[in-house]
Amino acid sequence: MEYKIGLIGCGTVGQGFLEIIENKHEYLRDQFDFEPKVVAICDKIKGTILIPEGINIKKLLELLNQGRKIEEYLEGEANQAEGKETLEIIEEYKTDIWAELTYTDIETAEPATSYIKKALRTGKHVVTSNKGPAALFYRELSKLAKENNLFFRIEGTVMSGTPVFNLFERDLAGNTIKEIKGILNGTTNFILSKMEEENMDYDVALKLAQELGYAEADPTADVEGYDALAKITILSNVFLEGNIKPSDVKREGITSISKEDVLAAKKENFRYKLIASTKKEADQIMASVSPQKLPISDPLAGVMGANNALNVELDLMGKITIQGPGAGKIETGYSILTDMLAIHYHLSK
Ligand code: HSE
Repeated sequence: MEYKIGLIGCGTVGQGFLEIIENKHEYLRDQFDFEPKVVAICDKIKGTILIPEGINIKKLLELLNQGRKIEEYLEGEANQAEGKETLEIIEEYKTDIWAELTYTDIETAEPATSYIKKALRTGKHVVTSNKGPAALFYRELSKLAKENNLFFRIEGTVMSGTPVFNLFERDLAGNTIKEIKGILNGTTNFILSKMEEENMDYDVALKLAQELGYAEADPTADVEGYDALAKITILSNVFLEGNIKPSDVKREGITSISKEDVLAAKKENFRYKLIASTKKEADQIMASVSPQKLPISDPLAGVMGANNALNVELDLMGKITIQGPGAGKIETGYSILTDMLAIHYHLSK
């Protein structure tokens, strides 16, 4: 089954997704009868192209790798996107699924939310790894999707492509989630690990996290705990029937923890981790993000590098811990693919 795909934003995640579907297109077609045809890419900085017969992904990725503009793909031919706003393209252009991959704005969730609403109001499914719309407007957007018989999927918003929503919504359906505790930010976990394991300075480790595509556009969001806060807000609202806003969550980042603190803790067999947690108490969500000094025997203390982990307490299954990549180009690119495959699975039933 062929799907016309549009990408809004073509940074690290978008390029990771394109790389995967380019390398695995035969496997995806033969194994799942899934044939993604990328027909639109809209990027505020790199440019916009609309190619109804499908973009040659290899050629596009080569351009992007050379730091060139997306429009150069057209080699001087007329650009159908000329003079059109992204919202206009989302509304008018023939697509089946839009992947919304612009930068997270945790305060306004814009322009992503407007893009998502436009797509859902004009008959297109949406998948996103953007934490803004999921943290601020999850209920409203899933309702809008349902009313229009469409899907709004957010697997990439928490733990990149490591399954969280798919796992708890489908495979562990029937359980009631009581409490969630985890490491939800790859960048800070990477920095803390590098300081301890390689005696690396904070600034050097942060720079490396940026180079590896883990950090947010503005890494303050990572190190001050805003990214983990967005994620625990999403989990509270999706799994604990909460209706909280990011401002309802107590937050502290890792900037007060020095390399000396990390090394001193190591000597005592402890490890600092940025822990996000949420639970419901008397119908109220209690959520927080803060650095904690965990004994080395704690399962979360063993999670190193850009990995994330979630420890979830369920009424029927007790405690389940999942661990896996929490950030990265291919890892988050994969979350976009897994959501598209889920949509394909439902539509082809
Ligand atoms: N900046 C985020 C992190 C990316 O480091 O976890 C994945 O959401």
